Amino acid sequence: MTIQWAGLSPELLIQLDRDREQPLRSQLEAAIRSAIREGRLAAGERLPSSRELARDLGVSRGLVQECYGQLLSEGYLDSRVGSATRVAGGAVSMPASAGPASAGPASAVSVTDPAAPAFRKSPRPPLIADFRSGVPDLASFPRGDWAWATQQACRTTASADFDYGDPRGSDSLRQVLAGYLRRVRASAAGPEDLIICTGYAQGLALVLRVLAGRGIRTVAFEDPGYGTDDISATVRAAGVSAVHVPVDGNGLDVAALAASGARAVVATPAHQSPTGVVLTPERRHALVEWARRGDGYLIEDDYDSEFRYDREPVGMVQGLAPDRVFAIGTVSKALAPALRIGWVLAPAALTGAVAQEKEIADRGTPVLDQLALALLLESGRYDRHLRRMRAVYARRRAALADALASHSPRARLTGLAAGFHGVLHLPGPADEQAVVDAARHRSVGLYPMRSYRSGSSPAPPQLVLGFGNVSEHAVRAGIAAVADLLG
Ligand SMILES: Cc1ncc(COP(=O)(O)O)c(C=O)c1O
Repeated sequence: MTIQWAGLSPELLIQLDRDREQPLRSQLEAAIRSAIREGRLAAGERLPSSRELARDLGVSRGLVQECYGQLLSEGYLDSRVGSATRVAGGAVSMPASAGPASAGPASAVSVTDPAAPAFRKSPRPPLIADFRSGVPDLASFPRGDWAWATQQACRTTASADFDYGDPRGSDSLRQVLAGYLRRVRASAAGPEDLIICTGYAQGLALVLRVLAGRGIRTVAFEDPGYGTDDISATVRAAGVSAVHVPVDGNGLDVAALAASGARAVVATPAHQSPTGVVLTPERRHALVEWARRGDGYLIEDDYDSEFRYDREPVGMVQGLAPDRVFAIGTVSKALAPALRIGWVLAPAALTGAVAQEKEIADRGTPVLDQLALALLLESGRYDRHLRRMRAVYARRRAALADALASHSPRARLTGLAAGFHGVLHLPGPADEQAVVDAARHRSVGLYPMRSYRSGSSPAPPQLVLGFGNVSEHAVRAGIAAVADLLG
């Protein structure tokens, strides 16, 4: 039996993620609380019996009873002897973002903030699965390790380190990171060539400014490629214009790059974003050749390649030509985007110029965070986290491939060698946007390849599916819900 609540099935209203650290009981409580606050469960509405709900969600009846008991005591639910559990009359609905999660109905008033900044993300309706790419599993952030590392850093840092420091970043982080990058990413550089920054976005801004200052005003970008609105704004702000170079089954088309007239190119050789293609060895050499011959530079975006499933991660092109490559790394995929930590590995002759841009931008990346990262790397906790996450993503990747193979066998999935997104090739003359819109109506977030392309010329219909932040259960439920749209 499927119980309909406010027109929604329990699976839609309540999503329990067994991979999360948060216990199932507290996930269930939070889901019911927010459904009441957001008005998806109205006052007086009858809740299913604990037995029914337990069966539908695949949890124990005792867990549901404990959850109902908690919400009864907080005043969200009402229950009279002999009658069903219902949503309490005083539990006023309010927007999901207003008020702390633990606030009870007494404080649950509808609040609108006239001074809310325009860029604040509006609350998204709950989705069965959101296949947005580029997001790692946020629930797996190693809170314990990070808490340990920040506490250690705070306790042991010398007082002198609280001063303005080297704009390139903390010496100890640059030492351990240089060793890590040599070991794991086959880089060829030392700590003196590293500038710690606040993620790829800032690293790119610094490098573009350095290049623009040396007369390089046209920079090539991969097409399709990673070019969010803020990246485009970064390019404009650096006084640089972008040209687009196609990507094919072997990666960036180096002949087209040579014909473009650009003297610098931003590329993702280890795992092309978004197609997932790995740049072939021939193309790697051609790219280095192109840079050497024309006094050009590669800006290597090395964003997610630690997660490689079939073999060891491919090393960075930087290792082949450290004098011609700016390699930019980030912890946004390995740990979390919220940390805002990344690095630029610059050609020796230009390290000083990048450091100068960093100093102008903000005088340096927060030192305690840098020291915490150094401790994670040094202690082996970073590697351990990556190992654990590789297994998590491998399972999600397999769940996605299996779900598609059984529900939508005509749709082809490619680009899964590394990272946590793939490309779904829709069969026949499908309309990407129509599929995305229809999926949204079924509470599944899908994303069109069109938004990664530079032009509007016709291209085969494709979707970019991220699975980093989607549990195996949600992957299966999400694909099952939209299978007929995918062919
Ligand atoms: C291709 C690519 N590069 C870099 C990043 C990370 O950028 P940042 O370090 O600024 O978070 C992302 C995040 O989605 C990405 O998809």
